[in-house]
Amino acid sequence: MGEIVHDLPFKNTTGNCHFFKKNVTEKEKKILIIFSKDIGLLIRKQITQQMRTIIEPFRIKSVEPIRMTSREERENFLEKAHYNLFALDSEDVIIDLLTDSGTSSMSANQWASMMRGDESYAGSPSFDRFHKAVHHLMPFSHIIPTHQGRAAEKILFSIIGKPGKYILNNTHFDTTRANIEFTGAEAIDLVIAEGKIPNLEHPFKGNMDIERLEAFIREKGAENIPLVMLTITNNSGGGQPVSMQNIKDTRYICMKYDIPLFMDACRFAENAYFIKMREEGYENVSVEEIVQEMFSYADGCTMSAKKDALVNMGGWLAMNNPEWAEAARNLLILTEGFPTYGGLAGRDLEAIATGLEEVIDEDYLHYRISSTQYLAQHLTDAGIPIVKPAGGHAVYIDARSMLPHINPLEYPGQSLAIEMYLHGGIRACEIGTVMFGLQYDGTEKAAPMDLVRLAIPRRVYTQSHIDYVIEALTDINARKNELKGVKIVWQPKQLRHFSARFQPLNCECSQKENFIKAFQHSEVV
Ligand code: F0G
Repeated sequence: MGEIVHDLPFKNTTGNCHFFKKNVTEKEKKILIIFSKDIGLLIRKQITQQMRTIIEPFRIKSVEPIRMTSREERENFLEKAHYNLFALDSEDVIIDLLTDSGTSSMSANQWASMMRGDESYAGSPSFDRFHKAVHHLMPFSHIIPTHQGRAAEKILFSIIGKPGKYILNNTHFDTTRANIEFTGAEAIDLVIAEGKIPNLEHPFKGNMDIERLEAFIREKGAENIPLVMLTITNNSGGGQPVSMQNIKDTRYICMKYDIPLFMDACRFAENAYFIKMREEGYENVSVEEIVQEMFSYADGCTMSAKKDALVNMGGWLAMNNPEWAEAARNLLILTEGFPTYGGLAGRDLEAIATGLEEVIDEDYLHYRISSTQYLAQHLTDAGIPIVKPAGGHAVYIDARSMLPHINPLEYPGQSLAIEMYLHGGIRACEIGTVMFGLQYDGTEKAAPMDLVRLAIPRRVYTQSHIDYVIEALTDINARKNELKGVKIVWQPKQLRHFSARFQPLNCECSQKENFIKAFQHSEVV
């Protein structure tokens, strides 16, 4: 390679090299870049391996007080909320793990960008900055801002969904499913079988089952399938990632049958970091490049910026198809706003643009994924069954296994979530039979899993908050046999988990008959 003279082979842990050599060829440059990245990665790994304590890679400049409450107070709050944690005042919650959506702390840079927001009705430079930041990672021809992810879903499925059509996905999130079903189309989940077995370790449990995907397309006909989606990471299946290979395989099938592939991209950066950590061949590729590759296989995406764009509100719909894009813009003007702002203010677009730069920072992602794994490991050590391995944004407790004495139709997940609030003021979310059990014909069946999701807001809680959660759950686990089921006393027709009213059951409720009923129609593996 010739003589390379350098004082230090690298400048910092991002691997910027200082080389002093004349006439470096293009090939040598490439080799040097790869080398410098390796060194950067190695240094980061060495630093983090030396130290066991996970530290937040930020300092706290502004704080929000948490009001501490007693168990007695919480009993009152919960009764008034009809035992539905969505109905609680957030000021009455000590640690809020209800969702990682829209709950991120923004950085000083994001707040500074907001001051630059240009609030012009049309043609705002803030839209240009937003567009450039999104397009850099997700290079689709049309990028349409919306006020949040479900607005993008509503617009997309209004265009392509109708009775007799099927939308296929690894696992639909609840708003995605509801928006599809609202048009009369059917939402079909085709995640791999491993993805439904909570305690099974698999690096990419969010993967699409490629064989079932192809079989389904053949059975129903490609003309009845306007879209295939991949939810990255697979939220309803435990926050599990999808591998690059699986994205490529899904792409291949979609191309074979001429069906567009869209990403439900909410947690794209976490998915990319899992690919970097777990998929052979990507260990030395930057997260930025992994993200770009992931989206290069797609024809569009829906996005909730409330997750991996590190903002409190926002989203977008992106695609290459010009006809769909035109129809989408027309609907956008009806319901969201002019195409250069969607449902957002100029300052929101600025915060998203800066958030997208920050979320692919590998120190941030290392901390994010490690702290979720820390929580998962300590719960496992305490004997609490969780979905394995830990997801990116959340740890999912397998409430059905933890509380086998509670019938799935008496909602073990809801029972555990209630007890977490009563014991520690911790708010979490049931993802199980309450969320998915109500059928279109009004009947009820057990969901494939009864989980409680502990979703970790981004850059909000410190490690001591997480230790508090571990302690509370360890206490509850020690007396788990005392927990009772709950019954629903009122519910709406759709998305019932948000507003249903519950009552605790005080009877011995696990009759054999009910168990049999619960599993009769379910797809439990
Ligand atoms: N898709 C996925 C995978 C999601 O997780 C969400 C939201 C959406 C779409 C809808 O986005 O909220 O901006 O309209 N998930 C939140 C959660 C609500 O708590 O997991 P949105």
